[in-house]
Amino acid sequence: MRDVNQPLLFETAWEVVNKVGGIYTVIKTKVPVTVQEYGDRYHLTGPWNRFSAHVEVEEIEPDNAAIKKAIELIRAEGIQVLYGRWLIDGAPRVILFDIGSAAHKLDEWKGDLWRLAGIPSPPNDIETNDSILLGYLNAWLFDEVAKNDTEHAIIAQFHEWQAGVGAVLCNKRKIDVATIFTTHATLLGRYLCAGNVDFYNHLKHFNVDEEAGKRGIYHRYCIERAAAHCVDVFTTVSNITAYEAEYLLKRKPDGVLPNGLNVVKFSAMHEFQNLHQVAKDRISHFVRGHFYGHYNFDLENTLYFFTAGRYEYRNKGIDMYIEALARLNGRLKACNSPMTVVAFIITPGKVNSFTVETLKGQALIKQLEDTVQEVSTRIGKRIFEMASRGHEPHADDLLTEQDRVLLKRRVFALKRDALPPIVTHNMANDHEDPVLSQLRSVHLFNNDDDRVKMVFHPEFLNANNPVIGLDYEEFIRGTHLGVFPSYYEPWGYTPAECTVMGVPSITTNLSGFGCFMEDNIVNPQDYGIYIVDRRLKSADESIDQLASFMFDFCQKTRRQRINQRNRTERLADILDWKRMGIEYMKARQCALRRCYPDSFDDSVEPYADDDEDAHHKLSRPQSIPGTPLVGADLSTYDLAALSISAELPGIKDHDDDHDLRPPIQLKMKTPLMTPTI
Ligand code: UDP
Ligand code: G6P
Ligand code: GLC
Repeated sequence: MRDVNQPLLFETAWEVVNKVGGIYTVIKTKVPVTVQEYGDRYHLTGPWNRFSAHVEVEEIEPDNAAIKKAIELIRAEGIQVLYGRWLIDGAPRVILFDIGSAAHKLDEWKGDLWRLAGIPSPPNDIETNDSILLGYLNAWLFDEVAKNDTEHAIIAQFHEWQAGVGAVLCNKRKIDVATIFTTHATLLGRYLCAGNVDFYNHLKHFNVDEEAGKRGIYHRYCIERAAAHCVDVFTTVSNITAYEAEYLLKRKPDGVLPNGLNVVKFSAMHEFQNLHQVAKDRISHFVRGHFYGHYNFDLENTLYFFTAGRYEYRNKGIDMYIEALARLNGRLKACNSPMTVVAFIITPGKVNSFTVETLKGQALIKQLEDTVQEVSTRIGKRIFEMASRGHEPHADDLLTEQDRVLLKRRVFALKRDALPPIVTHNMANDHEDPVLSQLRSVHLFNNDDDRVKMVFHPEFLNANNPVIGLDYEEFIRGTHLGVFPSYYEPWGYTPAECTVMGVPSITTNLSGFGCFMEDNIVNPQDYGIYIVDRRLKSADESIDQLASFMFDFCQKTRRQRINQRNRTERLADILDWKRMGIEYMKARQCALRRCYPDSFDDSVEPYADDDEDAHHKLSRPQSIPGTPLVGADLSTYDLAALSISAELPGIKDHDDDHDLRPPIQLKMKTPLMTPTI
């Protein structure tokens, strides 16, 4: 009998050491808590992206004999496998397969998949072909490890359809591992929402095969659906996606595994506020350059809003953001507001390079800054010289004619007739790009009298960027408000990341994160989490609500913004993996029990009595005053039994303004599954 108390854990995803979107964030940020629990028994597997692995993975020799033998066997068949440590917090072991080196097996494996599971695969879908290769390589590895090590139980967790083939194979080939499939969306959901479909009202009625067929994704859908049905435990990331999966994949998820973050607390209370100021100054530097010649607004009264994410125009609610910004512009103008909003859109589009205008703006402002610096140094020397001779310096004597001419030249260079650009890059398809088209149709052109100015940066940020030289995290810190009015968003890391950095954000009640906050906190808005209603309101009403949230935000004083940031930051603890990770533990326990029932004395399943009533049983202990997150949830879990050290997120008070600081009021129910382990 396999030992279920010391299981080996494999977690596999396309985004292991391979950044694409939010799944990468799940995998990477969850590592520390998983390593803390599993140590060297934990391995991540995925495709070998040479570009990132080269700088992020340190190759080592496998020390687990069963794994070593399995890898040697696979290598002997001509497959290149990298075994090493991923150099991130927690330094987990990774096993990465060079998918290309397995290409000679593709036809054989495609035929096998059809015979074994009835899953078709057309010839030219590279993404599906890669998923099949990854799936077969994973199954091969797990099979060999299970044969070599008959002592330990083995858990394999597969993320998203691209890793789903492995889950199907484990089942069909009866590989002796406990399996979990976690989907972070449904393929059909994402496709249907991107079109013009009233998704949520029709969810129960879609003819799934037909819809998948119409969109040319039937074979991918088959993989996803088969994976959901083939595993011991099927999970997803939010209740809203669980509901969607039940109808589109035809299996009700056993549990919901909400996404956490690896929350870093600063020892100094206001450190995150200071960081905001530092990053904001750097954004302001960019803004001066970008708007040169038309920089007629006061940066002291300017707010930075942004949206960011993969370029899914409708799903990510970029359409709603732009429309609401146009209304905000009208309202700010109508009331003669002193405030200006610079609204950023950061999403990777089809681009060629930065525009000359964009680069020129930054160069001109840099030149001016350098000149001012030189002139100031000269003035300083002059003052010193005069003062040391006992003369009182007069303002008129300080600037020489030469300096005046130099400065005048710099100032003249800042003149321009054209308006500041709305996009920073040359777009490959400028005239049909959805963001640019909509900005044109709502007339957000960065006119001088516009109170809302637009900057569309169609590329993800990084610190080496010559225009906005900030990485994404620093950029978030410098902004005032993140705006993510998604229509389709199983979780949505972007607002969650804002929250842990103390930046208020707007999300919707169609996003997993928005629903989670609504379910857990009595007044999310008090803590800087604004939730647009996209369920019960018409699109027009939702846009108005979004515009009002932004308009109201513009009315806040600096003091109120600082206070709100303090409150937002206090929510970080409920998003910490130290808390969220418990749902992963439950899923693994459940998989072990279902796969190896004889190894357990009792037959109680972790998900056995997850009913609505049970949710309401969780109450807030009287003994915990003020900010009782921990008491409300974690006290009910037997952490010791789960073999993770009970290093719980302490709620620290980051707000010195006690009058304005209400306690975080948690709702008496939790959307997390009821603990029964
Ligand atoms: N992101 C990034 N750079 C950017 C903008 C976004 O790295 O300039 C990351 C962000 O940190 C987040 C992820 O992209 O973790 C998006 O995840 P989300 O769950 O919001 O959406 P997904 O792309 O998975 O649908
Ligand atoms: C932080 C800094 C303050 C600064 C403030 C600006 O709190 O610690 O020094 O005044 O940010 O806030 P604002 O919302 O105007 O960017
Ligand atoms: C998916 C979803 C996103 C979620 C992420 C991580 O890509 O689109 O909403 O946050 O996975 O679970």
